Amino acid sequence: MQTEALSDAAQLTVRPLHEHFAAEVTGFDMRKPQPPEIQKALRDLFARYSVLVFRDQRVTDEEQVAFTRIFGDLEGTTFSVAHSHPYVYQLSNIDENGEVLKPDTTKRLFLEVNARWHTDSSYRPIPAKGSLLSGREVPEGEGETAFCSMRVGWQTLPDEMRRRVEGLKAVHNYAYSISLFDPDGAGVTQDELATVPPVVHPMVRTHPDTGEKNLYVSGHIERVVGLPEAEGRALAEELIEWCARPGYVYEHHWRPFDAVLWDNRCALHRATAIPLTQRRIMHRTTIAGEGPVT
Ligand SMILES: [Fe+2]
Repeated sequence: MQTEALSDAAQLTVRPLHEHFAAEVTGFDMRKPQPPEIQKALRDLFARYSVLVFRDQRVTDEEQVAFTRIFGDLEGTTFSVAHSHPYVYQLSNIDENGEVLKPDTTKRLFLEVNARWHTDSSYRPIPAKGSLLSGREVPEGEGETAFCSMRVGWQTLPDEMRRRVEGLKAVHNYAYSISLFDPDGAGVTQDELATVPPVVHPMVRTHPDTGEKNLYVSGHIERVVGLPEAEGRALAEELIEWCARPGYVYEHHWRPFDAVLWDNRCALHRATAIPLTQRRIMHRTTIAGEGPVT
């Protein structure tokens, strides 16, 4: 794939990472305030590619928060099990003694919820616009993050399936997601869960920046409105697997201080197996959504 330079922000270089979405962007320092033309170019690239990879960005939490604000207001943290800062989740496989978490520990189960394909905060009435994940300590060869595109999923969906899905709505429920891994809540308290009751979103949405339609499905879907529970879940799984079919996934292989930004409105992601011996510490900021799913 060709490297392309942007005419309106000449110092940025863009290297597509997949035929349909995802690009690596270099030529700026995330620790510094970005001039308006760079901010605009980054927002345009975010809308175009859905997943942006930035290398060698040794940010602090405050610098990460400031950079993330280029794309919108931030969503605050809700779940204390991974709290690092009012706007930063620390997704870490290290326990309070500095040891790698053992299997079936509460905090590990919280991380493992992210092993299912999902889009962040789809269980909120106004789901997240985007997320920025900074790799502070990254393992080699495991604990990667995979992405696929719900825009491409919709564009390539057979007509018969499009007709079946368009107009359907799904119930997204974080408590359901957690229950698949830990009936005790994986460190998420009942009070915290009470702030995110089940919500209903359409299964097809229009991207507010590009005007393009995309599927909107997530591992947080508990059922589909109007369908028997098992049938609804099977349909959601089928659509997710369609988006993530072979040839349509970009798997990011982390290097230290990579940062990856993704568009939760039209991209799905999941973590591959959380390491049992190597340290993995990622810090996530979340861009708040700008309105209900339409
Ligand atoms: Fe996630």
